[in-house]
Amino acid sequence: MTIKVYMSTAGRPLDPGEATISVFDRGFLYGDSVYETLRTAGGHFVEMGRHLSRLRRSAAGIGLDIDFSDEAIAAATRDTCEATGNRDCYVRIIVTRGLSELTLDPRHAGEPLLVIIAKELKLLAPALYERGLSVRIVDVRKISRRSLDPTLKTGNYLNSIQALRQATANEAEDAIMLSMDGAVAEGATSNVFMVKDGQISTPSLQTGLLSGITRALICELAAADGHPVTEATIWPDELRAADEIFLTSSVRGPIAVTTIDGAAVGDGAVGPLTRRLSDLYRTYLERVSRGEDPVNSGAS
Ligand SMILES: Cc1ncc(COP(=O)(O)O)c(C=O)c1O
Repeated sequence: MTIKVYMSTAGRPLDPGEATISVFDRGFLYGDSVYETLRTAGGHFVEMGRHLSRLRRSAAGIGLDIDFSDEAIAAATRDTCEATGNRDCYVRIIVTRGLSELTLDPRHAGEPLLVIIAKELKLLAPALYERGLSVRIVDVRKISRRSLDPTLKTGNYLNSIQALRQATANEAEDAIMLSMDGAVAEGATSNVFMVKDGQISTPSLQTGLLSGITRALICELAAADGHPVTEATIWPDELRAADEIFLTSSVRGPIAVTTIDGAAVGDGAVGPLTRRLSDLYRTYLERVSRGEDPVNSGAS
């Protein structure tokens, strides 16, 4: 698989072996960085505009000045994707606070470092979308908004890593995390939706979760299809009693959950609204790959 890595220090896409960072980079030392994960479809970015604005929002939230323009980041991302030779790429855009002495104080940081990793997009096996995932509601809670705001996508992902470790140690494939108040928040790297009696709902942003770009897209696609999504406080027992559950993320898209805490969700099969929204999302991606979505696909 061809992987290319752009680094602002080099100013061009590199082979992985050439793409090295200093051990004094604050991203390495402290997770002092922000990032985005997105994909391309048929050579076009999917929702680049929204990803770049979330990157800036995350950076502003930790006081990191990104001195690269959106156009420069999009152009470097395009070059890096093209260098892989793939029309459907997995893309990660990372900005770290740069080098510093071994001190927490960010006033000692140097220039921010931009790193873009692009590689062939490998989706989960179609059979997994057909059977759905098994998840576990884990004990590891989202940390308080007053500690590290979970609406910021920072390089500090240990909270989700701990959640995923607990889920996989208990024979589940993914984790559902609760807020400190015990409300359903999100997956380790995904947002969660449920369907009950034909009504789709998703935890509200006030719960303390990442404002997912696929979450927003699915809400828009569902509303346009006559199924408005309610943003609500969802308690674990309500989720366990759902007729359908699905997760969303930029790389996996919507994917059904058919087992929760070892029990079947609804009748244990992928439900009709999950299928409908997955179809609408697939159609949306086909439009992007034909270059028919210039507004949301951004500077592609
Ligand atoms: C914690 C968390 N929630 C939700 C998501 C889904 O967000 P998006 O749809 O923007 O990929 C992610 C994606 O990585 C995530 O890390």
